Formats: sequence, C-alpha cells, structure tokens
Amino acid sequence: MMATMAAALSMTGKTVLITGATSGIGRAAAIGLATIGARVGITGRDRSRAEAAAAEIARASGNPAVDVFVADMSSQSEVRRLADEVLTTYPRLDVLLNNVGGFWAHRHVTADGLEHTLAVNHLAPFLLTSLLLERLIASAPARVVTVSSAAQSMGKIDFDDLMGERRYSGQRAYNQSKLANVMFTYELARRLEGTGVTATALHPGVTRTGFGADDPNLMMTPIIAVLRPFMKSPTRGAKTAVFLASSPEVDGVTGRYFADRKARKSQDSSYDAATTAQLWDVSAELVGLPRKPGH
Ligand SMILES: NC(=O)c1ccc[n+]([C@@H]2O[C@H](COP(=O)([O-])OP(=O)(O)OC[C@H]3O[C@@H](n4cnc5c(N)ncnc54)[C@H](OP(=O)(O)O)[C@@H]3O)[C@@H](O)[C@H]2O)c1
Repeated sequence: MMATMAAALSMTGKTVLITGATSGIGRAAAIGLATIGARVGITGRDRSRAEAAAAEIARASGNPAVDVFVADMSSQSEVRRLADEVLTTYPRLDVLLNNVGGFWAHRHVTADGLEHTLAVNHLAPFLLTSLLLERLIASAPARVVTVSSAAQSMGKIDFDDLMGERRYSGQRAYNQSKLANVMFTYELARRLEGTGVTATALHPGVTRTGFGADDPNLMMTPIIAVLRPFMKSPTRGAKTAVFLASSPEVDGVTGRYFADRKARKSQDSSYDAATTAQLWDVSAELVGLPRKPGH
C-alpha cells in the first residue's frame, strides 16, 4: 500500500518518449508511466493508429499529457526527422524507452539498403538515442531503456555478414539484433559514465502482443496458438520497462540487463568491451554518425 502510494504520481514533471507505443508492450508501458504522472510521447508508423492509441492511453491512465509522433523507424531520414521533432517539442527528456522491434522471417532491405531486422531493431534505437543524447544529458538524471529479449542469449554478432546477405534466417537476424540491443546498452553506459544518464536493457517476458504479425508463418504455428493463452498480458509484459523507466530502486543503475525487474546475466560475449566498441563503430558508420562525438 505504502509502495503504491509512493509510486502514485512519482513521474509528475517527467517526460518519457516511447517508440512503438501504438500496441503491445509499448502501449502498456505508456499507460503505466502516464498513470504515475509522466508526460508521454508515443511513436508509430501510422498517424491515425497512433492517435487512437494516444486517446486510449490518456483514457486508461486518466492523464491527458500524451503526444503523438509519426515515423517509420526502418528509415534513417524518418528517425532523424523524429529526433528533430522531439527536440523541438520537449525542452527536457527524462526517459527514452526504445521499444520498437519485430521479427521478419524473410529478408527485406530498407530504403537505406540495409537488412530490415538490423535496421529497425538495432540501428534505429542506436541512431535515435545518439540524436537525443545531448538533450538527455542536459536533463540528467535521465535514463535510456532498451527492450531486448531473452533471444539475446542465442545471438551472435556476425561482423562478416551483419546484413544476412550470405545467409539469412529470421531467427538468426532477430537474435543478433536483440544481442545488439544489450551490447549497445553496455557500450552506451560506458560512454555516459559521469553524465547522470543511465542505460539499461530488458527482456519483457513472452507477451501476448501483435509481435510477429508481419510474419504469419511465425504466429500461425500450432505451438504459438497453444501457448498464447499462457503468455503474459501486455500490462505484465511492460512491468520491467516501467520499473526501469521510473523506479527509484534503479536510480544510478547502469549497464545492466533485466528480466522480471531483476538484474540478470546476459550472454558472455555481451560483456566483451572490444566487441561492444566494434559494434558501436560499425553501427555509427551504418547510420552516418561519427564514431565518437567530435571525432
Ligand atoms: N512479445 C513478446 O513476447 C516479446 C518478447 C521479447 C521481446 N519483445 C520485444 O518487445 C518489443 C515490443 O514488441 P511487442 O511484442 O509489443 O510488439 P508489437 O505489439 O508488434 O508492437 C510493436 C510496436 O512497434 C511499432 N513498429 C513496428 N515496426 C515499426 C517501424 N518500422 N517503425 C515504427 N514503428 C514500428 C508498432 O507500431 P505501428 O505498427 O503502429 O507502426 C508497434 O507500436 C520489441 O522490441 C520486441 O522485440 C517482445
């Protein structure tokens, strides 16, 4: 009861940007954070879907401070436009929740000529975070929270074939992108040392959402149909994200991977500083950013 009261409006005066909050975990996290007083900015690809989601978030949370941003995160020019709009709209940004992500069984190439899974799941949050970093630092203490997956444990960063040009499978590409989310978080935490901005990643748990809807082959398998009733609700799937975005228990906690609101070990290779630095440099090159600010 006391804890609930303490959490009651603990995010009042704070601004949170959540990518991909028109459905699933992102929308549930938006409701959770708006309920405790945050101004929430949500992103989606389609304006009418995003506006309907914003109305639902405002209604469910009782908080009308919900803003809509529209961007297709597979396009770097749209990510850049989104960052510009966010910087114009929000003089301060307390939390960036990188949530957009998906699974694609077949290989697609984005408008920028990049493999779609890597582009949406890893390069988009990498670019968006980089473009918003100065505003986050100016708003410190601030947090960058990135939704990864337990699939990170099966991932491998294949620097020789990052785009799956030689060999593609949806699962390999997804696992690689979710490991990249964790490695990005660890490297970001190192680069943000002393700024008051923390970086954490999480596994939400297997959650009943629209995840994989772009891929009927994945969602219509009999095993998924049987398991669906046992999956977490979006509200439960969003709990660790809401915790990392808002709880005083994780004030100052950085460079960690969480599941069920507990810090967990990610796969061994994710802790290799040379590999995380290499991934950072390759990612910076793929999105056209300098490897280090000022370099
Ligand atoms: N569900 C699970 O069991 C599970 C497990 C582990 C990890 N995760 C991770 O959790 C995160 C959220 O997934 P979810 O299950 O909530 O999925 P979801 O219900 O499919 O939601 C995905 C969100 O991302 C947006 N989106 C998708 N592609 C986009 C693009 N190209 N540009 C901009 N927005 C895009 C969608 O918005 P619009 O379609 O409206 O544009 C939607 O709001 C992902 O990172 C996923 O990898 C999920």
